[in-house]
Amino acid sequence: MREDVVSSGLRVEGLSVEYAAKRGLGRTRGDTHKALADVGFILPTGQTLGVVGESGSGKTTLGHAVLRMTPVSRGRILWDGVDLATLSDRDLRPYRRQMQLVFQDPYEAMNPRMSIGRIIAEPLLLAYGLDRHARREQALRLLKQVGLDESLLGRRPRALSGGQRQRVTLARALATAPRLLVLDEPTSGLDVSLQARVLNLLRDLQTDKGLSYLFISHDLAAVAYIAQRLLVLFQGRVMEQGPTDALLRHPAHPYTAALLAAQPSAVPGRAPKDPAPAMNPVADPVPGACVYYQWCGKALPRCRMEAPDLTSLGADHLVACHYPGHETTSIH
Ligand SMILES: Nc1ncnc2c1ncn2[C@@H]1O[C@H](COP(=O)(O)OP(=O)(O)OP(=O)(O)O)[C@@H](O)[C@H]1O
Ligand code: SF4
Ligand SMILES: [Mg+2]
Repeated sequence: MREDVVSSGLRVEGLSVEYAAKRGLGRTRGDTHKALADVGFILPTGQTLGVVGESGSGKTTLGHAVLRMTPVSRGRILWDGVDLATLSDRDLRPYRRQMQLVFQDPYEAMNPRMSIGRIIAEPLLLAYGLDRHARREQALRLLKQVGLDESLLGRRPRALSGGQRQRVTLARALATAPRLLVLDEPTSGLDVSLQARVLNLLRDLQTDKGLSYLFISHDLAAVAYIAQRLLVLFQGRVMEQGPTDALLRHPAHPYTAALLAAQPSAVPGRAPKDPAPAMNPVADPVPGACVYYQWCGKALPRCRMEAPDLTSLGADHLVACHYPGHETTSIH
């Protein structure tokens, strides 16, 4: 996406996160594990970027890094042009209100002893110190916004269904009037009809408030429904990114194609061709090779010798593969 198209919003450049590597498997103290390596994307205001990839690919790490909830090793997190990666905790404070996380598991994220009203209003107390009456008024307003009845205000989390709890989490996230929500698997614990209702609610809120979403999910159908653009991660690296429709209909990277083969319902009218290859996410990449080399059904000798750069296929579509979209006879 061209820079001049994005007047405001989030722009991430060269983002890397390294964790201390687990001991064993030939690793010693001081070794690091690259959970994210050189990740970049643009999320214009009011739009949704879907982040997909198998378990351990770095989706949650990316969401947390953008919110500065995990230390960033390198890179820039530009929010309306301000680099959040360089700000002190104090200087970050006003930005934190503008960016909120919606947790993967709403029940885990809630204090079971607190009432729903207190759970929703807590950020208002912390951010603005509103008095009790004002907090209750705001909590009622937020409950209404997410389609919940005011009778839930005095209940405890355990008395709510999974769908209601997810809406409460959303209401709490909306309390500080954020502009960006990082939604980490927001529909994963819900049955299909509830998922659809939460997705529709998210869409309505986005339209009403001009919110931007970083939408993380295993569920390609959910991502396809809500996101204008997709970012495909594998072992912390971007394999492909571009307009949702282009990626779903014409995946250029073999890994994107494998993800789609595993969830054919994400692509309207497409039946599965091949089962998704079995992957071992903890295996180390072959040094110097394409990071996907060991799993790729299209690998050729060049892939073993040279890691592909992320290159443009035009129309804001980027791919890290020497043979994007090609049918090749693999050397494996
Ligand atoms: N606090 C941490 N310390 C060390 N390693 C971590 C930490 N958090 C995540 N990791 C590692 O970083 C990698 C990416 O993890 P992350 O949780 O971001 O993946 P994910 O794509 O969100 O997976 P899932 O789909 O299972 O939620 C994994 O290899 C994980 O083991
Ligand atoms: S560069 Fe080669 S190994 Fe890597 S994804 Fe493309 S075809 Fe597969
Ligand atoms: Mg995760």
